[in-house]
Amino acid sequence: MNRFKLTAPNENETINKAKDHLGSILVEQFDRLKKIQREEGHVDYSKVKPIVIGLAGGDGIGPIIMKQTARVLRMLLRDDLDSGKISLKEIEGLTLENRIKEMKAIPDVVMQEFRQCHVLLKGPTTTPEAGGPYPNLESANVAIRKAFDLFANVRPIRVPSQGIDWTFFRENTEGEYILGSRGLMVTEDLALDFKVITRQGSKRIIEMAFDYARRTGANHVTVVTKANVIKTTDGLFLETARDVAKKYPEVKWDSWYIDVFSAKLIDPKRRRDFKVVVLPNLYGDIVTDEAAEFQGGVGTAGSANIGMKYAMFEAIHGSAPRMIEEGRGDYADPSSLMRAAAMMLEHIGFHEKSIKLHHALDICCQYEAKLKVTGRIDGASSGQFTDYLIETLNNNNLESIWKSHQK
Ligand code: IPM
Ligand code: MG
Repeated sequence: MNRFKLTAPNENETINKAKDHLGSILVEQFDRLKKIQREEGHVDYSKVKPIVIGLAGGDGIGPIIMKQTARVLRMLLRDDLDSGKISLKEIEGLTLENRIKEMKAIPDVVMQEFRQCHVLLKGPTTTPEAGGPYPNLESANVAIRKAFDLFANVRPIRVPSQGIDWTFFRENTEGEYILGSRGLMVTEDLALDFKVITRQGSKRIIEMAFDYARRTGANHVTVVTKANVIKTTDGLFLETARDVAKKYPEVKWDSWYIDVFSAKLIDPKRRRDFKVVVLPNLYGDIVTDEAAEFQGGVGTAGSANIGMKYAMFEAIHGSAPRMIEEGRGDYADPSSLMRAAAMMLEHIGFHEKSIKLHHALDICCQYEAKLKVTGRIDGASSGQFTDYLIETLNNNNLESIWKSHQK
């Protein structure tokens, strides 16, 4: 007995439709590659005035943690706001409700406002999943990354007491993500998704990782793929890494497969050796959540999405709808978004203020941690944590307190 029924009544027609679909995808991908090739260098923010920073709250706990992060930014940037070097632009309307109303990943007016900014700090947005109660919209994150070609997702994880100091460079525009909403249900029984890797797309992220390793003195890059099985796409990523590495003879590098790499991240003896890690999109997505767990969870990690002409900074977690449903929204941890804000300050050239914010977060979240945000009402609220952080930032001895915790 045949357990499977063939559900394509006309196989030839079905195959031709699938070929057309693939054809249209290839046309788009060739265009995209040409655009990458025409790309120019990064923006010099020292020459931009005002630097317009967009603040978009998002869904769920997003507006709550954004409100607190904006307090910190206003305090840190007081002089720059007064002098007109920086302008903060609050952007409303990046909500699931509006996205469903327009059936767009980003509502048009919101997108126009994003385009008026140089950089964007974004709260988490809810991503409807296939088969769930909401229409199957594309993720707002993925749409922003694509619209502004934000190819590098930089995710630092630091736990000084355990010798952990990792910086992940996750490729952010290709892999399984780029056509995530464009897979093909060939027949009722046959589903196809696509993974796209390009030499140019790999080269720019791998170079960014090697540049960073050289600049910071980390001098070591780990390239993570599954090139033993996913031979074509991951194979190209790894081959590109080999080429790029030749231009950085002083930077050591090694290649790992994602399975054993994920295992070694929990090996206390081995994991300290990892420093700068570069990897394709989906592996980067998964492994950075795992990595963030060592630092106190995804609620503590910030993330930078960097392109040549634009950058977006965000927490690495989602909008936590469960916390809102259960009335725990005010107890959400704002430190992830604050880490993202610190990365944003670094990106636009405010190095000292960025370091100050990172150090205050280290003190308040890890070293001193007088208040603990737990996400439940037994912990500190988002606002209470921020009061503590602002007090720490205002402490003239901030640097010496931070130094006293370095071994
Ligand atoms: C992240 C998130 C997103 C991703 C989701 C929300 C689409 O998990 O930024 O890591 O998968 O990239
Ligand atoms: Mg993720």
